[in-house]
Amino acid sequence: MATLFLMVGLPGAGKTTEARRLAGRHRAVRLSPDEWMIPLFDGLEADGKRDVLEGRLLTIGLEALRAGADVVVDFGCWGRDERTAIRWLAQSAGGACRMVYLPVDSDTQRARIAHRWATMPHETLPMTEDDILDGHAHFEEPDAAELGGRILDAPPPAWADWHAWAAWRWPSFAWQVP
Ligand SMILES: Nc1ncnc2c1ncn2[C@@H]1O[C@H](COP(=O)(O)OP(=O)(O)OP(=O)(O)O)[C@@H](O)[C@H]1O
Ligand SMILES: [Mg+2]
Repeated sequence: MATLFLMVGLPGAGKTTEARRLAGRHRAVRLSPDEWMIPLFDGLEADGKRDVLEGRLLTIGLEALRAGADVVVDFGCWGRDERTAIRWLAQSAGGACRMVYLPVDSDTQRARIAHRWATMPHETLPMTEDDILDGHAHFEEPDAAELGGRILDAPPPAWADWHAWAAWRWPSFAWQVP
């Protein structure tokens, strides 16, 4: 069964670094939106461009998974609903989902962000202290049950299923459940 690796963690936690390693090891398709945001839009986040980009990346990722390829989804996925939706979609595509959570303490996080800016500015979106604090305020840390893949919550009441929720969250998402 093909596997969708779902990277989870705060900025600078090391997700893209680990995503590259996993992609090499499993010969997986790696979907890292920053690498598209920078050449397409100079990294500018206005007008929900990232959500639209991620919807297309998720669509192609699920098609690849259904075709039998391993896939690494490197979106960050701070929200539990985002993670549950992607797990549900991976299952619908006939694949497995493995969540890869990379915890990081604040000092290490800031040191890694500074190191990245110093060594790879062309691959890096600038990150302010406000961005870092925003992450700390909004990140929903996965608990042991979620990491173990033992539970799959129902979608919020306004949505019939996780497919509908994903189409709301990522407006360009277009993959159909088979
Ligand atoms: N395990 C590690 N030990 C030391 N340094 C690391 C480790 N993992 C990543 N780094 C370094 O930390 C910096 C940030 O890593 P990376 O870009 O992979 O983080 P990220 O989680 O993808 O961040 P973002 O959410 O901003 O995309 C890079 O300079 C990287 O080389
Ligand atoms: Mg990254």
